[in-house]
Amino acid sequence: MAETLAGRVAVVTGAGSGIGEAIARTFHAEGAQVLAVDLAEPSLPDDSRMALMAKDVTADDAPDAIVAAARRAFGGLDILVNNAGICLPGSIEDQTLESWDKVFAVNVRALFRITQAAVPLMKAKGWGRILNLGSIMSDFGGPSLCAYGASKHAVAGFTKSLAVDLGHYGITANYLQPSAIWTGMSRPFMDDPDFRAYWEGKAPVGYIGEPEDVAGPALFLASDAARFVSGMGFRICGGAMARF
Ligand SMILES: NC(=O)c1ccc[n+]([C@@H]2O[C@H](COP(=O)([O-])OP(=O)(O)OC[C@H]3O[C@@H](n4cnc5c(N)ncnc54)[C@H](O)[C@@H]3O)[C@@H](O)[C@H]2O)c1
Repeated sequence: MAETLAGRVAVVTGAGSGIGEAIARTFHAEGAQVLAVDLAEPSLPDDSRMALMAKDVTADDAPDAIVAAARRAFGGLDILVNNAGICLPGSIEDQTLESWDKVFAVNVRALFRITQAAVPLMKAKGWGRILNLGSIMSDFGGPSLCAYGASKHAVAGFTKSLAVDLGHYGITANYLQPSAIWTGMSRPFMDDPDFRAYWEGKAPVGYIGEPEDVAGPALFLASDAARFVSGMGFRICGGAMARF
């Protein structure tokens, strides 16, 4: 059977660990040429279909540098996965302005800038896929997630506006909404037995998701099969959010 993403070029930010790494590995396994970007060069198979890049997505030159690297390595850019993200917890009573700005710089501002640089390449091909990492917190509030929750709501609004503006170029935009997934980001929360028990109990499937559980839906959304799917948020939560 043909590989789902054969001939496509994908950029995945935050590909050095967790969900981004799983998406980069899955897209690569499905035939894509992948530019994997993280603060430090990701440890991924360095073959002719995988290029590795150390870049802070908030750097002034990040959008141009990432797009240039994709063009240099693979001749274009078809799929952009804006996955790099940070969570600096805080309630309205203790979230500092500095931490709020840091969260928005990575989770929102960098998305805008990198997407803006990537769109012309997709437009040129009349085909593109933009996948942004939202969260269950794109729909709900959570304890001490003031900046993070606001940033993930911004991801939802941003993605819907992309879908509306870019659909006629053959470009779709969707956002993934994982619940708690085992990664470095969630580890400090998972260390709290109450938090873990809550998510294990809430998800009818009875376990907490792995990064690969997010990579599967990402693959579908990046594929030709999802050409009529745009502007949507996808909850990836083992049914947790279906439970009252
Ligand atoms: N793990 C979860 O439970 C969960 C749930 C919902 C949404 N998400 C979202 O999924 C995405 C991936 O998170 P994860 O859980 O895999 O976390 P993670 O910490 O394992 O991975 C995030 C990656 O992004 C990179 N990164 C952070 N800041 C960066 C920057 N400025 N420039 C370049 N790379 C940077 C990190 O180095 C890291 O490798 C995030 O957007 C996160 O908000 C995660």
